[in-house]
Amino acid sequence: MPVQSYVNGRYVRHHGAAIHIEDRSYQFADGVYEVIAVYGGGIVDEGPHLERLFRSLGELNIAAPGSERSIKVILREVLFRNRVRDGALYLQVSRGVAVRNHAHPPDMKPAFVVTARAHPWPKDFAAVEGIAVIAIADQRWSRCDIKTVSLLPNVLARMGADTAGADDAWMIGEDGLVTEGTASNAWIVTDAGEIVTRQLSQAILAGVTRRTILEFAAARGMTITERAFTLSEAKAAREAFQTSTTALVKPVLKIDAAVIGGGAPGPVTEVVFTAYLEHFASFGGAA
Ligand SMILES: Cc1ncc(COP(=O)(O)O)c(C=O)c1O
Repeated sequence: MPVQSYVNGRYVRHHGAAIHIEDRSYQFADGVYEVIAVYGGGIVDEGPHLERLFRSLGELNIAAPGSERSIKVILREVLFRNRVRDGALYLQVSRGVAVRNHAHPPDMKPAFVVTARAHPWPKDFAAVEGIAVIAIADQRWSRCDIKTVSLLPNVLARMGADTAGADDAWMIGEDGLVTEGTASNAWIVTDAGEIVTRQLSQAILAGVTRRTILEFAAARGMTITERAFTLSEAKAAREAFQTSTTALVKPVLKIDAAVIGGGAPGPVTEVVFTAYLEHFASFGGAA
């Protein structure tokens, strides 16, 4: 449990920290967020996360709550006040507070909240458990590239997975193509050994973990194809995994009733995980 959180310019006791009931993120989901990992006191991929935060704000014409520099100071202060060295930061920016009305006044002052939570990270691939996912219709809007707090379809999909006794869900568009996980990007390794993840578009979130993996894969001469794939292709894949800031690289061992890779994490997933963990760990050791 965080001890202190940042709310609109003040560091306050987390217990009892509050935003106004007319905050537009509460009333209209009119806000955006980021989750950033913290490893050994270091903020992992802070630059790309803040870049995406500013992009999300820009796409929705929400004012930034401050400069990149001032946000970085707040993130460090929240980590320090909560003594978090391994865990995650949560940032949320809403358009601000106004009398409830779909149209909003011009020049609104954004509301900004930052919390930090401690949790451990896996130290190696052996510590990582595979998961079972179900396929579920993607019921989201057409701007999934914006990281908004409007996560109801994702929440319902995740609850559907729970009800089905699975760990998560992969969302499928009307065209039968996999979009992404409820809070992750989806990947497969085909029988021919091709690593595939969907190309960026408004149908998926541009995951920072995805971006990092693509960058180091290129540097290591690994080939990754960015293209959409069908649910049937995923079910017939040699390996499958999903990536996100909080779950890193997670082997997917079952999609609906289809067992992937004999039900055990595969070698390509291990290579990607290990390389990603190396990148992750390079942020550790910050004072
Ligand atoms: C819908 C969705 N896709 C993908 C991701 C992965 O993004 P990242 O790697 O930046 O955590 C997330 C993370 O929350 C997500 O919610």
